[in-house]
Amino acid sequence: MKDVWKLPAIAPWEKSCGKHPTQKPLSVLTRLILASTKPNAWILDPFTGSSTTGIAANLANRRFLGIDQEEDFLKISIERKLEIENAKIASSYRKKLQGFNDKKELELFLLQEPQVEYQKEIKI
Ligand SMILES: C[S@@+](CC[C@H](N)C(=O)[O-])C[C@H]1O[C@@H](n2cnc3c(N)ncnc32)[C@H](O)[C@@H]1O
Repeated sequence: MKDVWKLPAIAPWEKSCGKHPTQKPLSVLTRLILASTKPNAWILDPFTGSSTTGIAANLANRRFLGIDQEEDFLKISIERKLEIENAKIASSYRKKLQGFNDKKELELFLLQEPQVEYQKEIKI
C-alpha cells in the first residue's frame, strides 16, 4: 500500500438511498477501516451524515454507531443500513468496491481475517 491513495469518486449506486452534501466514497472508508481495525471492532462517527463510515464498517464485518443532528441524514443512514441487511446486496456492494485487485478480493480477505474476541467486561 502506498502513502498516497488514488481511488475513484463516488459511484451512482452509493447514492441509492439519497444524497449527503459531503458524502465520501465507500472505497476510501473501507480502506481506512481495514487498515486500522480488526473484525467486530466498534467504530463511532459522531458526525455521521449519511453513514458512509458505517456502511463500510458493516460491509467489512465491523460494528458501528453513528450520531447526527439532522434527521434527514439519519433517515438516509437507516435506509442504507437496511439495504445492506440483504446479503445479496451486501455481497454485490463488496464486489463493486474499488481499490482491490479484483471483485472477489475483499470478500476473500474478510473470510481469512483472524477473528478477535473482545473482553465482555472491563476490570478496574
Ligand atoms: C462534514 S459532514 C460528515 C459526514 C460523514 N462523517 C462523512 O465523512 O461523510 C458533518 C455532519 O455532522 C453533522 N453535525 C454537525 N454538527 C453536529 C452536532 N453538533 N451534533 C451532531 N451532528 C452534527 C452534520 O449534520 C453533518 O451531517
